[in-house]
Amino acid sequence: MLLLSSTALTLLVAAASISLVGATIDPLSWDEAYTKAEIIVSKMTVEQKVSITTGVGWQNGLCVGNTYPTTNPDFPALCLQDAPLGIRLANNVTSGVAGINAAASFDKKAIRARANYMGKEFRGKGAHVQLGPAMNFMRSPLSGRGWESGGEDPYLIGVLASETIKGIQEQGVIATAKHFLLNEQEMNRHLSSSDVDARTLHEIYLWPFARSVEAGVGSIMCSYNLANGTYACENDYLLNTVLKGELGFKGFIHSDWGATYSTAESANGGLDMTMPGDITMGSGGSFFGKNLTDAVKANQVSEDRTTDMAMRIVATWFKMKQDEGFPEVSLNSFDLENSPYVNVQEDHNILAREIASASNVLLKNVKNTLPIDPTKTKKISIIGSDAAVDPSTLNCRNHACTGGTLAQGWGSGTAYFSYLIDPLTGLTEAFGDNVQVQTSLNDWDLKEAAETAKDSDYAFVFSNSNSGEEADVAGNMGDRNNISLWHNGDNLIKAVADANKNTIVVIHSVGPVLMPWIDHPNIKAVLWPGLPGQESGYSLADIVTGKVNPSGRLPYTIAKKVEDYGAGASISKDLVIPYQEKLLVGYKWFDHAKIEPLFPFGYGLSYTKFNYSQLKVKVNASYGDNKKVVNDATVEASLSIRNGGPVEGAEIVQAYLSFPSSAGSPPKQLRGFEKILLQKGEKGVVEFKFGKTELSIYDAETESWVIPSGQFKLHIGASSRDIRKVAKFTL
Ligand SMILES: *[C@@H]1O[C@H](CO)[C@@H](O)[C@H](O)[C@H]1NC(C)=O
Ligand SMILES: *[C@@H]1O[C@H](CO)[C@@H](O)[C@H](O)[C@H]1NC(C)=O
Ligand SMILES: *[C@@H]1O[C@H](CO)[C@@H](O)[C@H](O)[C@H]1NC(C)=O
Ligand SMILES: *[C@@H]1O[C@H](CO)[C@@H](O)[C@H](O)[C@H]1NC(C)=O
Ligand SMILES: *[C@@H]1O[C@H](CO)[C@@H](O)[C@H](O)[C@H]1NC(C)=O
Ligand SMILES: *[C@@H]1O[C@H](CO)[C@@H](O)[C@H](O)[C@H]1NC(C)=O
Repeated sequence: MLLLSSTALTLLVAAASISLVGATIDPLSWDEAYTKAEIIVSKMTVEQKVSITTGVGWQNGLCVGNTYPTTNPDFPALCLQDAPLGIRLANNVTSGVAGINAAASFDKKAIRARANYMGKEFRGKGAHVQLGPAMNFMRSPLSGRGWESGGEDPYLIGVLASETIKGIQEQGVIATAKHFLLNEQEMNRHLSSSDVDARTLHEIYLWPFARSVEAGVGSIMCSYNLANGTYACENDYLLNTVLKGELGFKGFIHSDWGATYSTAESANGGLDMTMPGDITMGSGGSFFGKNLTDAVKANQVSEDRTTDMAMRIVATWFKMKQDEGFPEVSLNSFDLENSPYVNVQEDHNILAREIASASNVLLKNVKNTLPIDPTKTKKISIIGSDAAVDPSTLNCRNHACTGGTLAQGWGSGTAYFSYLIDPLTGLTEAFGDNVQVQTSLNDWDLKEAAETAKDSDYAFVFSNSNSGEEADVAGNMGDRNNISLWHNGDNLIKAVADANKNTIVVIHSVGPVLMPWIDHPNIKAVLWPGLPGQESGYSLADIVTGKVNPSGRLPYTIAKKVEDYGAGASISKDLVIPYQEKLLVGYKWFDHAKIEPLFPFGYGLSYTKFNYSQLKVKVNASYGDNKKVVNDATVEASLSIRNGGPVEGAEIVQAYLSFPSSAGSPPKQLRGFEKILLQKGEKGVVEFKFGKTELSIYDAETESWVIPSGQFKLHIGASSRDIRKVAKFTL
């Protein structure tokens, strides 16, 4: 239960109170699922097998993706529905935090709980497949869809993916790991080839997908782009050799919408289902369907391949027990007015609010300005268009417009708001009737903003920066034109700070922004709620008043200037994009180039203080005759964390590894994190276990993962640049 406290400064930390929606099903093993699938698929003709691999075409069904059903044997049409953060193109759904916020929580339990409620809602609407989680990288802070995913680090995205997949699938809904692979920008997404060496491929971009396969993910979506010159959805190396071979993926691979570009090459390259089915969206015809059946007859594709495709789809359906009373589809994506009334929201607003406050990152807090006690406050001012909902833009199509408070980016990764609690509402309610609230919502009237801010106890000033998929919003074609605030934000913040000594800046953003005002002496606090979804205002107020002690951490680096991002400083317009920074993505580049960020990866403040002590490391490895470690080892670490500050709070303890210098690895890499909640004065123990996965590098020559021999360094800290304890061990 949230919000039990009567006094404002009693802290209730979100993580402590998060209660799971609970598992509905325990998925079958792949072996059990394949045994069941065999019974059906062995009775199917080639035409039937092909029909379940083929979508019915864009806008020809109730969901964004729909397959053909078969009769005798019977297999139902499958409904595939966006988005990674909730049900797209539907009413009466929960529209909560974006993926980037889930990552910013660094809270496995909260990520799992969010996935639980989402899975439950997809199931409630009869959607067999949730098209998420998104797992592409914020290779550049300008990347338009970066906010749908988990930031710049493979380990963090891997945890986000794994917990999300388990959470969705234990509700009996098939999760989709996407987009496979190397789809890190919107610019030229149907035309450009992302070229990357095998080691980088494995250690960075493939890593979260490997964790997804381990989590039992049912489907994987291949992406629009080419990789090393071949389209992802017909890329024999990526789909057959790597995904189905090396990783042993047993579910089905389906295309992104319109990412299939051929018949035989795709089927032979590993694609199992084409979405939404037609050649290009809305064109009619299909690369699969009759074309695929013809290709089998012409011996361009073997019948065995179509059997394998069908087996993968049917087995995944059995794995999630969708044969046991799965609800009828009650969506109507392209005619919302006439969709049946099925309300799946239940009390998911509670979880949506908890994870929104758990993902709010406190960047600056001079002299404990936050939290604020409303009973000691007379007047606050709330300034900026981002503080309030603009009803005319609230639910514009796919949120591809700008105006009012920002709570999600735009594109197919969105869900309509049944309601959106804006910061103005949330703060006004939290401060109560005895506090006067004055507003100025016009970003361009700096005089009015300053007047409004002038004589209040605290001036809250809001601004944002948006991005999304493909569509043009304010001249941004998905990717961001810059990493500056929109809507005159920098000038507005400066005007307010010049006028009020207790200025509190709140930024809603898809990713990093430049902060030319950060050192202004009147800016006492900066909060970073990112993309908080429908509970925006309530979750913000929970942090501001101290009902929740902030524990969100940055899932990306915020630089002082855009050039500091190196390879990520711009979006390539070229049709061949070499990922020349290789392993040095995000903070690994900043560490390597010795560039001081404005706020480092993993950073975030708390209302309390934590002390780290007694780091102990235990190595369990056996060595061969050549004194090299036999290719398996376990390293266990433990340390004490003490809450030495004034209030209850949760710390995010982060573990980074430096590999032996012979490994040629980045200076350090995240390989573990734990969230620990401690009462004031309480001490707790945090444990990490690093196995082969965490200790290995990918050796391109032998095409295998090897544990390098030599000295490792374990850095334990509160961010990537706030290392509190270091230990060395040798393997
Ligand atoms: C369900 O959604 C419709 C359309 O947005 C809305 O009019 C209605 O109030 C919603 N019902 C509930 C109970 O929220
Ligand atoms: C992709 O091509 C580059 C050369 O352009 C090569 O170095 C690399 O190994 C290739 N990647 C894979 C995964 O084969
Ligand atoms: C087969 O594919 C071609 C493109 O290669 C397309 O023009 C045609 O419409 C497809 N045929 C059917 C029956 O879908
Ligand atoms: C950055 O982009 C936004 C949105 O397109 C625009 O409003 C703003 O003026 C740009 N800022 C700079 C410094 O170019
Ligand atoms: C606890 O850590 C803080 C910094 O977070 C430091 O100032 C303080 O001295 C430490 N206290 C103890 C007892 O180690
Ligand atoms: C060390 O690892 C081996 C192999 O995994 C295991 O059998 C053994 O029990 C471990 N020893 C300790 C002390 O954990």
